Amino acid sequence: LKITFIQHDGETIETEVEPGMSIMQAAIENLVEGIEGECGGSGSCATCHCYLSEQWSDKVTQPDNNESQMLEMVNDTTAFSRLSCQVKITKEHNGLSVTLPESQY
Ligand code: FES
Repeated sequence: LKITFIQHDGETIETEVEPGMSIMQAAIENLVEGIEGECGGSGSCATCHCYLSEQWSDKVTQPDNNESQMLEMVNDTTAFSRLSCQVKITKEHNGLSVTLPESQY
């Protein structure tokens, strides 16, 4: 299924991903710049911050307490901010788009 990453400068990258991956894994596997994923997906580094589009934000699993706390430490968060390693892609998510922050730090 297709996931689109939108860089901070507006460049879009279409990726083909397998259900079961996280958004972070999809970005890393497709060499999308802008997602670091330093902790490997355990939800402890917050270098995988991304913004979901409004239409998708309620169609994915919602942040748990740990993710919410980590997001509080991230700059430039919005109501649609997520740690991309905590969002699993399922087959319902074909066409999902993810916007990347200007920087992860
Ligand atoms: Fe570290 Fe997501 S990869 S919090």
